Amino acid sequence: MLKYNHKLLSERVTVRMLKHLFAVQTVILLGFFPGSVHSDEIDLPAEILNLDGDREYGEYLASDCKTCHEADGTGDGIPNIHGRPRIQLITLLYAYREKIKLNEVMQMQAGRLSNEEIVALAAYFEGLN
Ligand code: HEC
Repeated sequence: MLKYNHKLLSERVTVRMLKHLFAVQTVILLGFFPGSVHSDEIDLPAEILNLDGDREYGEYLASDCKTCHEADGTGDGIPNIHGRPRIQLITLLYAYREKIKLNEVMQMQAGRLSNEEIVALAAYFEGLN
């Protein structure tokens, strides 16, 4: 009888541990599943947040971007990024660069950008209509 109880107890503990593990895993999957991130879920490092974007430099860099990102509409699934809040653009570009957000095209585009360039582009696009 004592033996049986002991077994029951250890089974309960095991079940509890599994439940706990499952909960932790679910949080990890939901929280870090790449590609499903929202810009408000990413903590930007201070070295980006402290930069002032140079709009003119941004304009210079933006000619590449504009071959895809046109002002009017969302042709071919390419989102319009004109006039979007700077912090949102910085966060998205940072997330592509760091491969937190999945998209091969944009990971390649953002992959070559420095912090200064990201902030400059964000400042420039924010000012567009
Ligand atoms: C070859 C085409 C192409 C070029 C060039 C390009 N993009 Fe993109 N961009 C895309 C596509 C496609 C998406 C949508 C990706 C996705 O679904 O995550 C996107 C998404 C974005 C987003 C996220 C928008 C959102 O609401 O999720 C930002 C910001 C962005 N691009 C900025 C830029 C900047 C800045 C440049 C220039 C350095 C650039 N892109 C160059 C095709 C391009």
